Amino acid sequence: MLNPDQIIASAEQPMRNFCKSFQEIIGDWKPFLRATEKILKGEDVGNDAVQPEMQFLVDWSKLIMDVTRQGQWDWSRPDVQALFKTYAESRMYKIFADAMIDMVVAIAKAGQIGTVVEIGTGPGKVTEVLCREMVKNGISVPVIISDSAPGIKSVGRRLQNEYPGLLIADFVWDITQDPPRELITRLQRPVIMYERFCIPYGGYETIDRIASVADILLLLEDFNLTEKKEAYDIIFEKIGLQFFTYQKTREYLEKHFQFVHPFKDTGAINLTDTCFFLLAMKQIAPGMARAVKPV
Ligand SMILES: C[S@@+](CC[C@H](N)C(=O)[O-])C[C@H]1O[C@@H](n2cnc3c(N)ncnc32)[C@H](O)[C@@H]1O
Repeated sequence: MLNPDQIIASAEQPMRNFCKSFQEIIGDWKPFLRATEKILKGEDVGNDAVQPEMQFLVDWSKLIMDVTRQGQWDWSRPDVQALFKTYAESRMYKIFADAMIDMVVAIAKAGQIGTVVEIGTGPGKVTEVLCREMVKNGISVPVIISDSAPGIKSVGRRLQNEYPGLLIADFVWDITQDPPRELITRLQRPVIMYERFCIPYGGYETIDRIASVADILLLLEDFNLTEKKEAYDIIFEKIGLQFFTYQKTREYLEKHFQFVHPFKDTGAINLTDTCFFLLAMKQIAPGMARAVKPV
C-alpha cells in the first residue's frame, strides 16, 4: 500500500529546485509567446528575440514550419536530429530532466519501489540521468525502458554497458497498444512509471494502455489549464504532438488512479496557465484516497 502524502512530500523539494532554476534561466515566457506567434504567421524572428535558453525552441518552431510546409515531418532528417541533439544538451532540457529524475529517485528512496519503467525513452537522455542518479543514491531496482521506435534496443544495450551494476531491460512498446506480455512478467510491484513528451503523440487513450503497468505514474507534459491553444501549440501539432489539457488528462487518470496530484508552480512569469508535472497513484492505503479537484 502506498502513502500518497509521503510520496508527494518526497517530490516537493525537487519541484522547488525546478521552479527556482526555471525562474532563473527562463523567467519571462512572453518573448517566446510573441516569437512563436510571428513564426506561425510566417514572419521573421531574429536570434535576439528570446532568452538564450529559449533559442532552441524558436529554432525548433522555425524548422517545424519549414519542414511541414514542404511535406511530412520526419524525425530521421539530419537537420531534425542535429537540432534535437542540441536541445538535449541545453540547460532548458536539463532542468526538466533533472526535476523528473530527482522526483523518481526521491520517491524510490522514501518508499518501496519494485521497478522503474520509462515510456517514450527516445535517445535515452533522461534515462542517462536516471541511471547516474540511481548509482549515486545506491538504488538498484530493475529499470525497464521502452519506445515505439526499434532504436530502443541499441539505447538499452548502450546503457546496460555503461551501467553494468543496474538491471536494464528494453522493449519496443507502442503505447497506443497494450504492453507486451514479456514486459508485464518482469514487473515487480510497486511500479513507478514516468514519461517526458511522449503521450501527446499517441493521444489521451494512451493513459488507458499504460495505467495497468503503473502504480505511481509521473507525467511531464505541457498540460494546458486554459483550454486555449497558443501559437506554439498549433506549431507543435504539425509534428503530431496533440494539445493536452489538464482537465481531460485528469479525467482519464481518474479512471485508473485513486489519487491525482498536479504540481502547478513553475516559477515563470507570463507563462500560459499550465501544469508541467502530474503525479497519479493507486494501491494506496485505506482512507488516504483523494483526487484533486479540477482547477
Ligand atoms: C520528443 S521525444 C521524447 C524522448 C524522451 N522522452 C526525452 O524526453 O528526451 C518523443 C518520444 O516518444 C516516442 N513515441 C511517440 N509515439 C509513441 C507511441 N505511440 N508509443 C511509444 N513511444 C512513442 C518517440 O519515438 C520518441 O522517442
